[in-house]
Amino acid sequence: MRYVIGNWKANKSEKEVMSWVERFAKIYRPTDGIEVVLCPPFVYLPILRKQIEEKEIKLSLGAQDISAYNDGSYTGEVTPRMLSTLTEYVLIGHSERRKHQNETDTLIAKKAQRAAKYRLKTIVCVQSTETPVPERAKFVAYEPIEAIGSNKPADPEEANSVIKHIKQSNKNLKAGIYGGSVNAENVSRFLSQPDIDGVLPGGASLDPLKFSQIIVNASEI
Ligand code: PGA
Repeated sequence: MRYVIGNWKANKSEKEVMSWVERFAKIYRPTDGIEVVLCPPFVYLPILRKQIEEKEIKLSLGAQDISAYNDGSYTGEVTPRMLSTLTEYVLIGHSERRKHQNETDTLIAKKAQRAAKYRLKTIVCVQSTETPVPERAKFVAYEPIEAIGSNKPADPEEANSVIKHIKQSNKNLKAGIYGGSVNAENVSRFLSQPDIDGVLPGGASLDPLKFSQIIVNASEI
């Protein structure tokens, strides 16, 4: 199985979300062997879930973060129980959260543990071979900081050797994903590497056409 996981980050109005879905539904053709996941901001998960069901789009949803707490007195938090009926996947430890929200490896490990309790598939973002991978994580996304949003993707062979190393030292992992300036032109170079099982485009997932083109190119390898 190969994975194409779109990360919208903090982008789009509700109107823009609706027009993205309209267009995506028209151009996207699902392919066997490719799991497509979209990670929108929390607030759009319910409308996207509804749209996907109504339009019968073969698309999984993921959250961009999750609370380390269970339901209770934690103002502003979105808990694993709330997400468990809306999403299949959850991103944890994105470098932007580590930077802007001061997330630590300890907090990230706690989030991974809580997410696993609710059977959410956890994609832990790591920045190098030094970043700890929580035991319960099933997916790892290697995203070198300098490659994010810079149009300067990592060298596919180097990315492959980092992912290979991480997989070798974390036997519970199901898949290794690469993220950082992935687009329709370079996706095949990453996915043709033996240890890279998927890609995590950010900027390119905002446009339904570019996102679908990544999926098409991923399916042709
Ligand atoms: P980018 O973002 O594709 O825009 O570089 C990837 C990410 O940060 O997940």
